[in-house]
Amino acid sequence: MHQHWGRIGNKDIHLFCLRNNIGSRLYVSNFGATAQAWVVRKRDGSETDVLLGYDTLEEYQRDEFYMGSVVGRHANRIGGGRFSVDDKEYRLATREGGYHLHGGEEGFNKKVFDSHYDDASPGTIMFSYTSRDLEEGYPGEFRLEVSYTLDDENCWTIKYRGTTTKTTIINLTQHAYFNLSGVNNGPIDHHSLKISAEHFIPVNELQLPTGELQEVAATPFDFRDFKAITTEMNSAHEQLELSYGYDHSWALETLHTPALKHAATLREPSNNLQLDVSTTEPAIHFYAGNFLDGRKGKSGQRYHKRAGLCLETQHYPDAPNQPAFPSTVLKPGEVFESKTIFRISEPFI
Ligand code: GLA
Repeated sequence: MHQHWGRIGNKDIHLFCLRNNIGSRLYVSNFGATAQAWVVRKRDGSETDVLLGYDTLEEYQRDEFYMGSVVGRHANRIGGGRFSVDDKEYRLATREGGYHLHGGEEGFNKKVFDSHYDDASPGTIMFSYTSRDLEEGYPGEFRLEVSYTLDDENCWTIKYRGTTTKTTIINLTQHAYFNLSGVNNGPIDHHSLKISAEHFIPVNELQLPTGELQEVAATPFDFRDFKAITTEMNSAHEQLELSYGYDHSWALETLHTPALKHAATLREPSNNLQLDVSTTEPAIHFYAGNFLDGRKGKSGQRYHKRAGLCLETQHYPDAPNQPAFPSTVLKPGEVFESKTIFRISEPFI
């Protein structure tokens, strides 16, 4: 089932509704492979939309927060906007501060994807996009497929698959902003979080990795057991001051293996919802919505600082310039594959 949402150039933009048998719906668009809403039906019959977003395509075109979209070709920061592959240096668009962020001036979040949807499988959609050689400065024509599935366990499964014609760098993520109390019910302050990681990736004043991994023990970055997000978020820890709150990657593993593993669990006790995140990616970037600035979102609600948070599964930031980090290089003949599952449940009976 889908709704025609608008047109960009000669391409139609749709808002599709993926449904499962327990009454939940995930609304997604071929603009930026964006997830616009995830309406979860609870056991008592009530519904909660757990994703921040906008009502119209025009608002997504203007968006600066990567609201619910796929981020690429290379998510997160690349120092100096430079990297080298095959002995050749490439330069990418940079922001103030001199780093590249989230794919450049017009990343995948603003691209029109082709969509492949079959009414016979109402829980699944596939989006595809071909990024031309040197688009945003990245080498190689990169062909990407992203599939979304919503199943009866309330798992939103995201699969990425891509190939390139020249050696390039790829780091993809989904930039959904979650709020398990419901998008109209205040900030994320009452959420608690658990992250399956012993180390996080400290950053410098440009929010670029220093290159080290730091143990989470005895720091505000220790989420090995459930902890309220706000417990230490405003503490005077240098790393939190540099980033205006949590905006860091946690290392789930130091080598990249294709194994699916638990990354994080987010809980909101008053609405009794839990989000479990598992991934094949080696890191999870927890961004606490620090830069949200009160702009209007769905139903005219204002999204102030910390109205939602992102749990972005990906490779480590600035991997192209950090030889010790798991590599984001993709070569012709190789297939880029990555999978992340977001599962929503009610933790307490
Ligand atoms: C990421 C970054 C943040 C910010 C947001 C988008 O998660 O780490 O610093 O750029 O995206 O606003």
